[in-house]
This record gives sequence, C-alpha cells and structure tokens, in this order.
Amino acid sequence: MRTPALTLLLLAACCWCCCSGSPPAAPPAADASLHFGSVPAGVYETVAYYEPGPIGLLFNMMRAFLHVVQPNPFPQDLVIRVAKDKFGAIKSDYQKPENIVLTLQVIYYELGFVVCAVVGILFIVLVPLVGLLFCMCRCCDNCGGEMHQRQKKNADCQRGLLTTLLLTTTFIITAGVLCAYAANQNLSSQLKTMKRLVNSNIRDLYTFANNTPTQIDHLISQYGTAKNQVLCDLDNVGQLLGGRIHEELGKVVLPALDEAQNMAGVIKDTKEALENVTVTLAVLQEGTVQLESNLSRVRMDISNALDDPACADSLSPIVHICVNILSSLSQLEISANYSALPGVSEQLAKVNDVLKTDLAQIVHQGFLAFNDTPNMVTDQTRNVAEGVRGLLDGIGNNITRFSKLFPVQTTVNNVTNIISHTHSQIEDLYPEIDKMDFYRWISCITLCCMVALIVVFNFLGLLCGILGFDRHASPTSRGCVSNTGGNLLMAGVGFSFMFSWVLMAVVTATFVLGGNVEKLVCEPFHSRELFKVLDCPNLVNPSWKHFIPGYLFNNPEMDLTVENIYSNCKENRGIYSALHLDKVFNISALFSPSLYTKDVSKKFDSLKVDLKTIVLLNTDGKHNLINFTEAGIKDIDFAAYMEELNKGVTRVDLLTFASDLDAKADQLNNGPVQTSIKGHANTLRQIYAKQVVPLQQSMKYVTARNTLNQSIRFLERTATDLSNKISEILQAVETAQHLITHNATFTVNQESEKYKQSLIGYFEQYINWIKTSLMMEVATCKPVSNIVDTAEILACGFLFDSMNTFWFGLGCSALFLLPSIILSVRLAKFYRRMDTEDVYDDMEIGNNGYYNEHVQGIQNPVIASLPAYDTMTRFPRASAPPRHGDW
Ligand SMILES: *[C@@H]1O[C@H](CO)[C@@H](O)[C@H](O)[C@H]1NC(C)=O
Ligand SMILES: *[C@@H]1O[C@H](CO)[C@@H](O)[C@H](O)[C@H]1NC(C)=O
Ligand SMILES: *[C@@H]1O[C@H](CO)[C@@H](O)[C@H](O)[C@H]1NC(C)=O
Ligand SMILES: *[C@@H]1O[C@H](CO)[C@@H](O)[C@H](O)[C@H]1NC(C)=O
Ligand SMILES: *[C@@H]1O[C@H](CO)[C@@H](O)[C@H](O)[C@H]1NC(C)=O
Ligand SMILES: *[C@@H]1O[C@H](CO)[C@@H](O)[C@H](O)[C@H]1NC(C)=O
Ligand SMILES: *[C@@H]1O[C@H](CO)[C@@H](O)[C@H](O)[C@H]1NC(C)=O
Ligand SMILES: *[C@@H]1O[C@H](CO)[C@@H](O)[C@H](O)[C@H]1NC(C)=O
Repeated sequence: MRTPALTLLLLAACCWCCCSGSPPAAPPAADASLHFGSVPAGVYETVAYYEPGPIGLLFNMMRAFLHVVQPNPFPQDLVIRVAKDKFGAIKSDYQKPENIVLTLQVIYYELGFVVCAVVGILFIVLVPLVGLLFCMCRCCDNCGGEMHQRQKKNADCQRGLLTTLLLTTTFIITAGVLCAYAANQNLSSQLKTMKRLVNSNIRDLYTFANNTPTQIDHLISQYGTAKNQVLCDLDNVGQLLGGRIHEELGKVVLPALDEAQNMAGVIKDTKEALENVTVTLAVLQEGTVQLESNLSRVRMDISNALDDPACADSLSPIVHICVNILSSLSQLEISANYSALPGVSEQLAKVNDVLKTDLAQIVHQGFLAFNDTPNMVTDQTRNVAEGVRGLLDGIGNNITRFSKLFPVQTTVNNVTNIISHTHSQIEDLYPEIDKMDFYRWISCITLCCMVALIVVFNFLGLLCGILGFDRHASPTSRGCVSNTGGNLLMAGVGFSFMFSWVLMAVVTATFVLGGNVEKLVCEPFHSRELFKVLDCPNLVNPSWKHFIPGYLFNNPEMDLTVENIYSNCKENRGIYSALHLDKVFNISALFSPSLYTKDVSKKFDSLKVDLKTIVLLNTDGKHNLINFTEAGIKDIDFAAYMEELNKGVTRVDLLTFASDLDAKADQLNNGPVQTSIKGHANTLRQIYAKQVVPLQQSMKYVTARNTLNQSIRFLERTATDLSNKISEILQAVETAQHLITHNATFTVNQESEKYKQSLIGYFEQYINWIKTSLMMEVATCKPVSNIVDTAEILACGFLFDSMNTFWFGLGCSALFLLPSIILSVRLAKFYRRMDTEDVYDDMEIGNNGYYNEHVQGIQNPVIASLPAYDTMTRFPRASAPPRHGDW
C-alpha cells in the first residue's frame, strides 16, 4: 500500500513541475492577485475519539491502583536500551556487568509488578496447599473440625462481629465480581463500535485515494486561470503597457500641449478683447464728441453774448464779471477725451491674420496623435504578444503531457485495490474475532460465576444462619435452618479453596500483561513519549538514523519522525508536507527558475515601440504662435486708456457751473447780456440732463466703459511677457517632441520590464498556490493519524482498559476470598449444630476444649441420648456429604 501511495505523491509533485520554474528570490510583480478557487477537499468521517462513559470510573480506579503499583514515570531510556539490545544480547551474554545492571534496572522499574506477581504466585501455590492441609486436618477432627463449641460469654458479640465482617467481605467480593463482569460486558459491547470505527477508517482511506486525483486535476486545471490572466493582459497590452508608457511620457508631453492649447484660447480672447475695445471706443467717442460740440457751441454763444459793448467798456463795473465769465469758459469742456486715444485696428487686423490658422485644431491633432500611443503599442507589440501566447500553449501542453505521463488512475486503482483487499481481509477476520470474543466472554463469565457461586453460598449461609438463630438454643440443639446456614458457609469455604487459586492465576497473568501494556504503551502514547522511543535514532534498524525515511525513501538521514508525521497528519496537512516529500522531490529545484523567465524574457527582447510618428505641434502651429507675438499687442498705450477711463465726463460740474453763471448774470444790469447768459445757463442744465447724465449712468455707456476697462486690462495682462511665454511653450513642446522621438525607448524599456514582471508574476502566483495547496490541501493525511488513533482506541481504550478492569475486579474478589474463608469457618461454628458442647464455660479439660466422655467416663446427658458414632460419623468434614439423616 505504501508504494502506490508514494507514486501518487510523486505524480502530484511532478504534475506541476513541468509548468515552469519559480525564482524564489524575485519579488512578485503581479498587479492582479489571482483566485484559483479552493481545492476540492475530501471529507473524512472518522472521529477517533473514545469516551468510555460510566465505566470510565472503574477504569480510573484501575489506573489509580496501577499508579500505586507502578508509580515510576515512563522509563524512556531504559526502554530504548532494552529495545536496542533486542533482548538477545542479554540472553546470550547475561554475565556481562552492563547487562546485569540493565537487568537490575528493569527489575527495579518493574518492582511493583514483581512484588504483586510474587504475592499472586504465593497465593496460587499456598491456597490449594493450605486448603488441602485444612481439609486433611479437618478430616482428622482437628483444626476446628470437631463438632464442638466452647461456650463463651462473648459468643453473641463474636458472632455479631463475624457476621458483620463476613457480610462486608462478601459485599466487597460482590463488588469486585460486578466490576469484572461490567468490564467483560464492556469489551463485548465495544466490538460493534470497533467494526464501525474500522469501517469508517477504511472509507476515509477510500476518500483519501479517490479524492487525490481530483485534487491534482484541480491543481493542473487552474493553470487555465493563470493562462487566461496572461492572455487577458496580452490582449490589453495597449492599455497596460501603452497606457503606462503614455502616462509616463504624458508627464512631459501633456503640460506642453496644454500650454499650447491655452495659448490658442488666449489668441481668440485677444481678438475678442480687441474687438471690444474698437466697438466700445466708438460708442464712447460718439457720446463725447456730441457733448463736446454742444459744449463748444454754448462756449461760443456765451462768448458771443459777452462780446457786448456793456462789457467792452473798461470803466463799467460789470467788466470784471464779464472777464470772469470769459475766463471760466475754458473749463467748459469734456474731461475724458476718447477721440484722443489711438485705435487698435492694426493689432486686430494682425490677430485676425494669425487666427486664420486654427492653432487649437493643430494642438488637438497633437493630442490625438499622442493619445494614440496605446494603439501604436498594441500594433507594434503584436509579434511579442503572439510569441508569449505560443509560449503559454507550450507550457500548457507540457503540463498536460506530464499529467498524462503519470498513470494517476492506475495508481489510484492499485491503492483502492489494496484498501479493498485489506478491507476484505479485515472483514474475514470478523467471524474469527466474534468467535474468539465469545470464548473469551464465556471464560470470563465462568470465572465470574465461580465467584458468584461462593458469594451465593456466603449470602445464603448468612441468611439461613441469621434467620435460624435461636438465642436460647444451645450449640447442640440449634435448628435445622441455622445448621444449614453453617453448612452453606462451609460449602462456600470449600468452593473458595477450589476456585480462588484459579482466579488468582488468571488475575496474575492478565495483571502482569495488561498492567505493563497500560504503563509501557497506552500511557506513553497519550503523552507522546512512545513516539520519542520510536523516533530514537538507530533503534529500529541499527544502521539507520530514522527508520521511516529509511523505509520510504531509502534516506535514513532525513529528519522525518513518527511524531512529525503523526502531528502533521493530526493537523490534516497534505501528505506532501507530512512526509517531507519536498526533501525527496524538491519542487523548487525541479522548477528551473530560468525556464519561463528566460523564455518570456526572450520574447520581450524583440519588443520595440517607435513613437517617432507622433507630431505634437507642426510648423504652422509654431509660426502661428510666433506671429502672435508680433501682432503688436504690447504696443497698445494701456496707460492712456486707463487714464481716460479714470477721468470724469466733464471737467467741471455743469450744474454748478450753470448756477455760478446765473449768479454772475444777476450781477449784470438788466439787459440782453443778462438774459442771454441766463438762457445759456439753462442750456447747460439741459446738456447735463440730456448728455452728461446718460454718459455717466446709462446702461450703454457704463457697459461700454466697463468692457473697455476689462478688455484693456486683459490685453495688458496678455501683453506682459508674451514673447517669453510663447518661447517657453515652444521650448516645452520641443522637449516633449524630443522625448518622444529620441528618448522614448528608455521609458518603453522601463515599462515593458514592469509589464513582463507582472506576466511572470502570474506564473509565480500559480506556482506558489500549487506549493501551498500541495502542502496543506492535497491528499490531506488525517486518515493516517486516525488509523493510529483508532489502533490506540481499540488496543488501549477497548481491550486493555477492559482487561485491566477485569483483573482489577476479579483480583479484588480473589483476595477477599481469604478473609471470607477464615470468617466463614469461624462463623459456621456459630450456626452449625454441634455434637458436643461445654458444660462449664471456662473449664479446661484436655486440649480439645470439650468434655471428653471417653477420658472422664462421665456421660454427657445430651451426648448420652444420642447413639454412639465413630469419630468420622460424629465429626464429619464440613464439606463432606452428610451421612446422618439430620444433614
Ligand atoms: C467683450 O465684450 C463682451 C460683451 O460686452 C464681454 O462679454 C467679453 O467678456 C468682452 N471680452 C473681453 C476679452 O473683454
Ligand atoms: C480731443 O482730441 C481731439 C483729437 O486729438 C482734439 O482734436 C480735441 O481738441 C480734443 N478735445 C478736447 C476737449 O481736448
Ligand atoms: C516543454 O517541455 C520540453 C521538454 O521537457 C522543453 O524542452 C520545452 O522547453 C517545454 N516548453 C515550455 C514552453 O516550457
Ligand atoms: C499497479 O499494479 C500493477 C499490477 O499489480 C502493476 O503492474 C503496476 O505497475 C501498478 N501501477 C502503479 C502505478 O503502481
Ligand atoms: C529545494 O531547492 C531550492 C532551490 O533549488 C532550495 O533553495 C531549497 O532549499 C530546496 N529545499 C529543500 C527542502 O531541499
Ligand atoms: C476697471 O476695472 C477694475 C477691476 O476690474 C476696477 O478696479 C477699476 O475701478 C475699473 N476702472 C474703471 C475706470 O471703471
Ligand atoms: C446738441 O446739438 C444737436 C445738434 O448739433 C442738437 O440736436 C441737440 O439738441 C443739442 N443738445 C442740446 C441739449 O442742446
Ligand atoms: C532619456 O531620459 C532619461 C530620463 O528620463 C535620462 O536619464 C536620459 O539621459 C535621457 N536620454 C537622452 C538621450 O535624452
């Protein structure tokens, strides 16, 4: 069974060594973590655990007794030395001092057992001997065989005491025999459990064998998961590799293009601002020119009106008023003179010229070209991807080939055959076991019955004795019931002599065997000290350090111990790790680390990505930008514009001016001048209301001024440093273009290396998964530890615990038969009808203690009334068949 199971493992190990090798040092570069699904697990049903139930109490008592007999801890060293000697050396050369020492050590360790066994043997030898002597002695009317009882004052007390003691003893014997009986029944009843346990172990072994190919198939089939992921990544090479390249290059390219794009917007905005300036300037000019002409007419009219003789006369008092008015007339004019501002039509024309080339479109083209990188990468890496695809199929084919190379099914069939063969052999054993168990049961029951018989005699004797006891009857006149009780007790004594040594023989033999097995096998198994003995180097085979790897792999130096295997299997690990198969079939070594790495790398060597065709900004675009700098925006007199914008509409407030004029006119003598001046003051008020107020407040002019303000400020901002900005943009675009055209290989290599590592990472994940699965999940070897546990339960829990409890109970009974004999003999005296009795309580006549008529010649009245008997008739043996009618 070992060999096919091993082959199965070999197969498991090798099925995946074909895939490829894993370089353990390389860090996994995989981006996505793969999910291979769980390995279909075999469900083992055996529960190798035994709870003895109520009888466990008896087991514990038995163990406590064993502990008293054998308190020494497990003698690991001694056992190892004895086992190494294989007993042979001691036998052949027992005079060697070290062998004598060893023997003494063994005896010292076994002292408790030796003492008990000696006691048992003494019991076996002495009890029949004493019984024989007692019998013969009684036949000769000695040893209390005479049917005479001395009358004593304390007879009642003595009888009571004896009865109590005998009763107690008999109860103890009963308890012992019940204990033995229970143990006997327990063993028989565990037979069914044993069959169930064995069967479930066998079924687990089937599960173990049948599941393994499925699990291996699963491991192999999951190559598909890794392969699909690789294929998926190959299909997405544009996104994964091209995207990464795009992203890397984009760090330089995109800002440059963005700047160019922004500049295209600025050019458009500049045109709009220039247009705004032109339009608003016209609006404002129109408004102010109208106002200026009306104001100048008023000015003219007033000066005409003052051109009057009244003012001309230098002696006239009003002259200085006229002069005053005349001199103030110069203030009567507009303040913000938009007509004085130079137009921007020249710039507008140039900008319009620049705009004839659609820079935004050109930059957009650049973007498009650059964003096409993933597609270009896809196109240009097509052959590499194909190569890797081919490699994948090759690896897949290799895996399939390897899996077919090993005959999984045949091996499993072989293993299954062995299991079923073993199973049927075990099944064949069952009738034998049943038969043997029946014989064993019968024998044990017989032994129990022997004790039971004695117990029954004792109880009946006591019953009859107690019931038939008559306080007033003298020993010779005891009733028939009492007499029968006594005789029954004596019969019990007889059976005790006959059976007790047989019982003790059985007890001693089973005690020595069962006790030692319990102490040397069962207890050390639980404490796992037994494994330490088994694992002791060179124990099983002197030339081998460890025997299990020695047998399995012919490599005894391997560190593989029984305890190792047992505990690993108990944790339900894979048999690959439990048996340390990695030391035999080193999977890491079988995987050539360079195999797929090298192949994949070779495919990637031919990877070339050429992005030279990408043009970020063509010559037109560049010229366009340069032309814009030459549009003369910076030549606009922004300060003049701002100055005019900040001025008010008129130099003086027209209403104040008009009131002033009125006041001055009032000082003039009534006349045409005064009337005329007052009229012009009114005209000024009208102009203010009709022209100045709109210029200050109407929507049209306010908006125009604001727009002009905005546009001029915008133009000023744009003009600042414009040529520097443009040259910076051109420089950035140039750098980006250079990167793409001449230095993309650097980035491409960097990114394709990462991409390659991520592909390899999938293989690594697959291999690591296979490794852990093989360690933990494939062919989990719980059945192996279960078999060991089951063997322990069968041997220790069922057989030896029951057997030990059996001798414990029976031994207790057998031992207490001795006091029972003595007490029964003494007590029988108080129940049986005596032939003679004392006349005087404390008379000392003869050494027999009764009144001897032959000696004294005086007739005892009672005796005299009876016919004369010979000695034999009068004092029959207690156990002898009655001759007299009274019996
Ligand atoms: C031009 O005028 C319009 C409307 O008055 C305004 O929305 C726009 O912002 C102005 N453009 C610039 C560049 O000032
Ligand atoms: C406004 O400017 C124009 C053109 O320079 C000039 O002819 C006119 O006299 C100016 N008007 C005033 C009030 O300064
Ligand atoms: C498949 O196995 C053969 C021989 O074992 C080997 O030469 C070949 O390189 C393997 N193919 C792959 C793709 O690993
Ligand atoms: C299976 O058993 C047959 C005969 O018993 C043997 O020839 C064959 O080699 C075994 N196969 C394996 C894989 O152990
Ligand atoms: C298996 O082989 C690998 C590399 O060949 C090595 O690093 C590792 O220690 C080996 N493992 C065992 C258990 O021998
Ligand atoms: C021009 O606009 C700025 C803010 O945009 C403002 O602070 C300033 O007063 C404005 N000037 C005029 C004359 O409206
Ligand atoms: C300004 O002059 C125009 C004609 O030049 C005239 O139609 C208009 O009424 C005048 N406005 C005022 C307020 O006099
Ligand atoms: C290419 O770019 C890398 C870094 O991006 C730089 O180290 C290298 O010098 C550049 N080579 C050329 C030829 O520009």
